[in-house]
Amino acid sequence: MNAGPPPGALRLSARELAPAWPASCAASDSEIIAALCEPRARISPKYFYDAAGSALFERITRLPEYYPTRTERAIMTLAAGELRQQLGAGATVIELGAGSCEKARLLCDLIQPRAYLAVDISADFLGQAVAGLRCALPGVEVRSLVADIEDEVTLPADLGGGQRLVFYPGSSIGNFDPEPAAALLASMRRLAAAGGLALIGVDLIKERSLLEAAYNDAAGITARFNLNALAHLNRLIGSDFDRRQWRHLAFFNAARSRIEMHLQATVDARVCWRGGERSFRRGECIHTENSYKYTIEHFGRMLERAGFRERLWWTDQRRWFALFLARA
Ligand code: AVI
Repeated sequence: MNAGPPPGALRLSARELAPAWPASCAASDSEIIAALCEPRARISPKYFYDAAGSALFERITRLPEYYPTRTERAIMTLAAGELRQQLGAGATVIELGAGSCEKARLLCDLIQPRAYLAVDISADFLGQAVAGLRCALPGVEVRSLVADIEDEVTLPADLGGGQRLVFYPGSSIGNFDPEPAAALLASMRRLAAAGGLALIGVDLIKERSLLEAAYNDAAGITARFNLNALAHLNRLIGSDFDRRQWRHLAFFNAARSRIEMHLQATVDARVCWRGGERSFRRGECIHTENSYKYTIEHFGRMLERAGFRERLWWTDQRRWFALFLARA
């Protein structure tokens, strides 16, 4: 396998998909509260994905401004022949943060693996998604594993044979800061096992206006998605965030090559929760998400550092998004 695009440029069009953070989370109240009490308050992006947040995310993926999902899907379709060739017959796909398993449908249709294992932290969400997938893909052995992909994932001992493909689509790798992203890539390499493959979606650096539009859609769905984290926290830690006192902020931080999402207080606000409280001055922000954007070269180096021996990538004509295939 060579680094660089396969011969023949890829031509793209449209269609959409889902998230990669869990629908609910296992983290303790104290972890949430500690982050809220930091001098620069934070809410982990995993708290976006309660049922309402997951539904809002599905809407985001269909927005005209949000190009990653449809671009990745088109790249995947066009790369299918090469993927099948690299994988061979009887492969086992392991999807990390599988969520709704929506992307697995397309991938499994394209490469016809023998087995598919969906890994996600949310048991409820996963159960439903996997049941749907079993009906849609009768020829594939569909299984699920409830696990936090930020910890070391232990695969079932009787997992199907054949080549392994660890699948991490949607540019969710971009939601990790550099150090945890490196750790996750190293863990993917271990899961792929010697000779196995990883298929990873990566959002690329592009014009600021395009990046910022994708996170500030005209219909305000991303704003609702961001603000919904406050309602989720209210249920989890008994806080009294009033979402009318907060507004959505998203901008490209070029120095750190990432979109940052924040919730900004529009008034002086005091927020109480079980056993504590914090005051926020008007204009003060809670940092809710980073979404790192990479160059092909940078991400290729990250894969190399994580121990992947060979790397192949595909991109769209506009070079907005890339799909990397790396061999462990
Ligand atoms: C899930 N993740 C890759 C999305 C992103 O683009 O970083 C989450 C998202 N946040 C706002 N819009 C979409």
